[in-house]
Amino acid sequence: MAEPVRVEIVDGIAIATLSNPPVNALSAALRAGLFAALRQAEDDPAVRALVIAAEGRTFIAGADISEFGRPPSSPTLAELVAALDGAAKPVVAAIQAAALGGGLEVAMACSWRVLGPQAKLGLPEVKLGLLPGSGGTQRAPRLMGAAAALQLMVAGEPLDADSAVAAGLADTVVLGDLLQAARQFAERPKPKPVSARDEGLGDREAFEKEAAALAKRAATEPQVADCIACVRAAFEMPFAEAVALERAAFLRLLDDPRSKALRHVFFAEREAARIAGLPRGTKPRPVARAAVLGSGTMGAGITLCFANAGIPVRVIETDEAALARGMDRIRGTYEASVKRGTLDPATRDARLALIEGAVGLDAAADADLVVEAVFEELGLKQQIFAHLDRVTKPGTILASNTSYLDIDAMAAATSRPGDVLGMHFFSPANVMKLLEVVRARETSPEALATATEIGRKLAKVPVVVGVCHGFVGNRMLARRTQQAERLLLEGATPEQVDKALVDFGFRMGPFAMADLAGLDIGWRIRRATGKRAPVADALVEAERLGQKTRKGFYLYPEGSRTGVVDPEVTALIRRVAAAEGVEQRAIGQEEILDRLVLPMVNEGARILEEGIAARPGDIDVVWLHGYNWPAWRGGPMHYADSVGLLHVVARLAAFAQATGDDSLLPADLLGRLAAEGRGFASLKAD
Ligand code: 3HC
Ligand code: NAI
Repeated sequence: MAEPVRVEIVDGIAIATLSNPPVNALSAALRAGLFAALRQAEDDPAVRALVIAAEGRTFIAGADISEFGRPPSSPTLAELVAALDGAAKPVVAAIQAAALGGGLEVAMACSWRVLGPQAKLGLPEVKLGLLPGSGGTQRAPRLMGAAAALQLMVAGEPLDADSAVAAGLADTVVLGDLLQAARQFAERPKPKPVSARDEGLGDREAFEKEAAALAKRAATEPQVADCIACVRAAFEMPFAEAVALERAAFLRLLDDPRSKALRHVFFAEREAARIAGLPRGTKPRPVARAAVLGSGTMGAGITLCFANAGIPVRVIETDEAALARGMDRIRGTYEASVKRGTLDPATRDARLALIEGAVGLDAAADADLVVEAVFEELGLKQQIFAHLDRVTKPGTILASNTSYLDIDAMAAATSRPGDVLGMHFFSPANVMKLLEVVRARETSPEALATATEIGRKLAKVPVVVGVCHGFVGNRMLARRTQQAERLLLEGATPEQVDKALVDFGFRMGPFAMADLAGLDIGWRIRRATGKRAPVADALVEAERLGQKTRKGFYLYPEGSRTGVVDPEVTALIRRVAAAEGVEQRAIGQEEILDRLVLPMVNEGARILEEGIAARPGDIDVVWLHGYNWPAWRGGPMHYADSVGLLHVVARLAAFAQATGDDSLLPADLLGRLAAEGRGFASLKAD
């Protein structure tokens, strides 16, 4: 492997260039190289100063997250940073791109920070459930003031070059030769080390105000509470003591299951981007214009996604009236954003100019990608795919947004099954980040690569899944929905069920959600598929459709969107349970939670067995971005690993026995992994 740090000495200045692709993470080798470069510069009497520069798309992306959990090897990041801070000769960081986390901590320990225009300075550790752990909580406050430093840490978002200089975090932005400018700074007399600049902390009151405003987050996110405590320590104790406090907090957080879950998510998201089994060198096709069929709930949202990404899009309906309604929906969404102040009118106009309405499928002829979002009827979709096959040019990708239906059957209606796949957006399509890219039997690698690439351009997180009823997300959700209803029959109340999931970290429970969406939607689907949900069906039959009728599982007093318990519902559930012959009992919150979540994990295991998802992490990403699974719980499969698969298997087996429901019996894969003492994380793709 190439040396991660190259040192050259030019005119008495040592220049250490970092090169540790892909992102110059501070691996053991990089730390050792940089430490040696500093020693060399310090020991060589002919060298006056050291410049640290970097090659590649980042300056330094931070600590190497993949090394967390391994025994630390010397020099540790803390040792490296302390050595830079204590250097006798000036050290200049020449930052051409992002300096994040430990990368910024390295830079803050230097004498000067000189930025290129593309530089970004940030402390994103909170997003991984951590805090800056190598002096960042002490140096950032001394450079930019304690209040601003706290803001930077808890937001986790980087500052651009100009803002970083304005904040005092860096010394200058250079439009020309960055290295040349860094060398000029290197000739300046060495300033006081940042660790000794206590006067920079700024106003204590401003900091305390900022801290007080974070009270709510601090109560649920330990890393935020620790950021506050460590920055406060900068006012209250000597630098070295505060650094020791920070170190202890960092190590504690590193071991916290919440941080482990967030780190799992970081890698799972990146891994999901790699399509399993895609031949090397597969090229996505260019998509210059798109067409969306249907301008209903989903079609309108998907159209917004294309326009927001700057891609011209034609939205197609069956008649002028439906089109007018769809265009109103699209304009209305932009209007609401302008009113909220999150979109400026000029951007709205530019986006609207990319959207064209049309009637009739022939209007899709010149599109490179068509996304079908018409009614959920297979016959209709097949007709549409056959028509699209005739009118679109060769190579146009034909995608369906179906929630449940068979993409292979749609592909079979065309003469180009290789170009057909699913692009399953989640509602509201312009907000939710998940995109299930459904690979059908004959979908070509190019079509798959195109759909995932376009997904990323639309700011989505694409996850490739296989064909089955409901794909990954909705198939697992169906298990939860089934158990939620069953729990009502067995004696749990809607508010107990909802509370179990809200306490777990979801924003809403299934019944509050059903009331919001409208109970008639599920009812219609059940009618069409011959399924039953006795409690939900009885509510619909009593004309309780949810928030829109101001009563569903809950009562919604005039003007309120928060449901209150309705004794009529309690009585109705009791009646339905008696009619179904189900005996009611008191059910504890822990059982409720396990009954809701573990059957989903079980279905996830079946999905893996069948190859519908390539890896457990993909399933986690689906749940995080499609259903707002709490990120700090890492997704259902990570959660199962964290509670232990033996426990999961035992609980499922007990539920199956108690209810007589064989679908609750542990899947083979689950049983096998548990017996071998393994977790889902031990499964490797391909
Ligand atoms: N450690 C190890 N690997 C990392 C990494 C890190 N800090 N940052 C990125 N990578 C890896 C990714 O896993 C990915 O690997 P892959 O190609 O095998 O999937 C590869 O680098 C490229 O990453 P992205 O796909 O994310 O590339 P982008 O160009 O889109 O983004 C980035 C680059 C903005 C640097 C982004 O990767 C990022 O945000 N990284 C994490 C930054 C971070 O959180 N740093 C703080 C770390 S904790 C720390 O420093 C503790 C200290 O305070 C003690
Ligand atoms: P919707 O009923 O709101 O909209 C469907 C639209 O398609 C209507 O405007 C209709 O006029 C139009 N349409 C019907 N036939 C057409 C044709 N031949 N050509 C052009 N337009 C036609 O339905 P919704 O909710 O937007 O769902 C659309 C698809 O998206 C369905 O397959 C659904 O399963 C799927 N989906 C729905 C989600 C949701 O939450 N609503 C989430 C994810 C997927």
